[in-house]
Amino acid sequence: MGLIAPHGGQLVQRQLTGQARTEALREAAGLRKIIISNWTRSDLELIGVGVFSPLTGFANEEDWKRIVEEMRLANGLVWSIPVTLPVPEDVAKSVKVGETVALVGEDGVTYGTLQVEDVYAADKRFEAAGVYGTTDEAHPGVARLLKQPGYHLGGPITLLNRKQPEEFAEFYLDPVQTRAAFEARGWRTVVGFQTRNPVHRAHEYIQKTALETVDALFLNPLVGETKADDIPADVRMRSYQVLLDLYYPKDRVFFAVYPAAMRYAGPREAIFHALVRKNFGCTHFIVGRDHAGVGNYYGTYDAQHIFRNFSPEELGIQPMFFENSFYCEKCDGMASEKTCPHDAQYRYILSGTKVRQILRSGERPSPKFTRPEVADVLIEGLAEVKMGV
Ligand code: ADX
Repeated sequence: MGLIAPHGGQLVQRQLTGQARTEALREAAGLRKIIISNWTRSDLELIGVGVFSPLTGFANEEDWKRIVEEMRLANGLVWSIPVTLPVPEDVAKSVKVGETVALVGEDGVTYGTLQVEDVYAADKRFEAAGVYGTTDEAHPGVARLLKQPGYHLGGPITLLNRKQPEEFAEFYLDPVQTRAAFEARGWRTVVGFQTRNPVHRAHEYIQKTALETVDALFLNPLVGETKADDIPADVRMRSYQVLLDLYYPKDRVFFAVYPAAMRYAGPREAIFHALVRKNFGCTHFIVGRDHAGVGNYYGTYDAQHIFRNFSPEELGIQPMFFENSFYCEKCDGMASEKTCPHDAQYRYILSGTKVRQILRSGERPSPKFTRPEVADVLIEGLAEVKMGV
């Protein structure tokens, strides 16, 4: 049996290399330039290397509308969050359908080209209500969306340049590479784990509980844009390495980053995250409590319930659901609401805000919440951030 098929059947590859790239870059120099944000540059790259398969470009109006309304592409495939290229009105008015434009970063580098298939006005409130379930501007995903310019360019892209990571380059792997690695190890079942946080004991517990029933764990932290009060990715990266080194079986864990922006779209992002991990080669995907949630916008298990809208065949990847997990004094170990009969007073539960507060004050949270070695890396990393190192 081979690896799980990517979403839509084929891994999208739209990156040019060698002579073809050189020529495309030469041509791009004479094209109309569209300046793209770092967020869009990251989307462009993820489309180009197939992380967002079956997307071949930025959403045209038909796809965009159907994704927002029904969580499907125009061709019926499941897709829960539109990947769009927002532009201001004056740009939208000057670009012609059929034209190819150069996608240029704020740093002046041409990252790719877009064959413009569609130019349309996008109702951002409609998109917010559909994707985020709210138009409240206090929601970080909604705030970002509503700040975007009101038009979208849609069409297939070509990827010509990639931003080189400043650190941890060995953990930036494309689906082609992770798939080859899983295959080389002979893994038939791999469970993907998304996180934008350090791995605390509850994360470790659900990962290892899942690992009891599959061949391997793919630890795949999101390292693209996150909100300002989340722990910076470079600090987290050091903490993951320490944890993996000391507490995880090396021959059953694969570690690589997911360089995408965090949408904070809760349930819809859980579907999105699962499909992306399928593209990396995972057969299973962990969804715990309030996956990709923020504030109180989503119910604790909404990100699990949303999977009921789709058949196992059309998703391809199998979700593994976990209840709220914690250390329980009475159980004398990690447990969840599903397995622990004891009163809440015996449970170690800290909010993200509270943990960050403890770490920033230079204290270790209880080892029942975070491994001490992980806490030390985080304390040191956050102190450096504070000092601007
Ligand atoms: S997320 O925004 O990337 O989802 P986080 O890094 O906190 O946030 O969570 C990573 C995964 O672990 C998600 O699937 C989330 O539901 C799950 N999770 C986090 N904390 C717990 C917990 N205490 N109990 C159960 N699941 C959890």
